[in-house]
Amino acid sequence: MSGLRSAAWLDGDDEVAVLHRVALGLVETDRGRPVVGIADTSSDLNPCQAAFAALLPHVERGIRDGGAVPARFPVMSLGEDLMKPSAMLYRNLAAMELEEDVRAHPLDAIIFLANCDKTVPAALMAAASTDLPGLLLLGGSRAAPLFEGHPLGSGTDLWRALDRRRTGDLDGAGWRTLERTLACAGPGSCNTMGTASTMALVTEALGMCLPGSTGCPAGSPDLTDLAYRTGLEVARRALVQMPVPSTAMTAAAFANAFRLLAAAGGSTNTVIHLTAVARRLGVELTLEQIDAWWAPVPLLLDVEPCGSRLVHDVFAAGGLGTLARPMLAAGLLDGTTVLGDGSTLAEHAGRSPEPAGVVRTLDDPVAPAPTMVALHGTLAPDGAVLKTAAASPDLWQHTGRAVVFEDYADMRARLDDPELSVTADDVLVVRRCGPVGVPGMPEWAMAPIPQALATAGVTDMVRVSDGRMSGTSFGTVVLHVAPEAAVGGPLALVQDGDPIRLDVAGRRIDLLVEPAELAARAARAVPVADEHLRGWPRLYRDHVLQAPQGCDLDFLTAPTPESRRFVPPVVGRS
Ligand code: FES
Repeated sequence: MSGLRSAAWLDGDDEVAVLHRVALGLVETDRGRPVVGIADTSSDLNPCQAAFAALLPHVERGIRDGGAVPARFPVMSLGEDLMKPSAMLYRNLAAMELEEDVRAHPLDAIIFLANCDKTVPAALMAAASTDLPGLLLLGGSRAAPLFEGHPLGSGTDLWRALDRRRTGDLDGAGWRTLERTLACAGPGSCNTMGTASTMALVTEALGMCLPGSTGCPAGSPDLTDLAYRTGLEVARRALVQMPVPSTAMTAAAFANAFRLLAAAGGSTNTVIHLTAVARRLGVELTLEQIDAWWAPVPLLLDVEPCGSRLVHDVFAAGGLGTLARPMLAAGLLDGTTVLGDGSTLAEHAGRSPEPAGVVRTLDDPVAPAPTMVALHGTLAPDGAVLKTAAASPDLWQHTGRAVVFEDYADMRARLDDPELSVTADDVLVVRRCGPVGVPGMPEWAMAPIPQALATAGVTDMVRVSDGRMSGTSFGTVVLHVAPEAAVGGPLALVQDGDPIRLDVAGRRIDLLVEPAELAARAARAVPVADEHLRGWPRLYRDHVLQAPQGCDLDFLTAPTPESRRFVPPVVGRS
């Protein structure tokens, strides 16, 4: 036996081993080499993953040149745009599928081809749970064709155009031109600092992809080079069976990731994803701890939605290494964490260019700290999150009267109703958007500004929800309120007219209603009829944890050495 995990399937001379070698297509010279699985998430239903078809041969060549055998297998693709009610409903399913694929097959190491918002965290979760040597290969960020003379930022510029269309500032012809321009952007992930780009940055910082991945343009020679070198590096790791993901994704690496998220003005969804990955490695995070990490970090990347540029500019400026330079100098990052090529963060930063242009220094930030805060209070006893970098500073301290929408459908139906009683000082509440409530916690939290107010020039209001919002979105939106309304959180008890106070300085979000009155409302509350869910949505609803626990399933989070180390199952005839 070679000591490889795959040897349990492939070594020997009996009929079972012969069957396995033939099934894998091994030739004589492959015998004894490690098998590197390539989890391929390509799909016509997900343009963000489309670049992988061209990258796959380069990954396979790298694996071969590194002395291992490639074995591609398909994995479900989590297309952010087309999957309903939300790709988030399926993140955990994809992570489970990956984990089970690895468990069941003769794989010694794995390369995850992942790019879109939920595919990347699903791959990280599976990497954490399986703990086999491996890396992610990200599929690059999409091009930015010009719209009205400016490079089109994915998501963010669509939301801005929608606001303009609602106020009559963009006519039907302009709207159709926007659609044609979006269609020309080609494959790749969103090119703003949305969830995919933010996940790329933190994946690089966690040592789970090669340095230089963040913002790398889809279709570029740089990405082809990354594909080849990822194959080569993972083959090397397979040969020595080290290092495994748990040696890179340490508590210090997660602290770095959260601080880089804040410096980038990245997606709030990353909070949930990083928490889920960390918990699979036994690293417990609290929102209080995360808020303390965020507190001293200003906005250092001038990238949409919080800035003006796109992630290609960050790539050209030096990416993670350049961003890390001023943060390391200020003691905001731990330079000893290990990146995907085996170098430390400090070594990589030392080889990277000085900050300039799109990457700022601490003396000249895009915006002061904090860029994100965690909130607690009577409306969110278990916590909530606000991206202050994308919020209006004049709303950071605000008390307003609640205007309550029972769910997303209610919001869509009534938001622009001329009969709706709403002012710019009110607080829009959109509830039943949480992990259990839908189920799946879609990005429904950012209610648009009601049309009458938008037309009058209102651009931001305080909004509160137990849902998520797109990383490409902006506004004073208090997100991920926990416990969510569907499990009896205080958000379920809010009534129209109740005062709600947002206090960023005090890190609080409070419902200013007497406890006795809330208790009376709770006693009168009529349970919402249980839908007849079946299949995955039912399993998900019955086992999903709340946002502060990363929305993982309750039976997947606690690792043991046995459950993380993927010893081969009984290998005989199937
Ligand atoms: Fe896939 Fe943005 S929709 S990365």
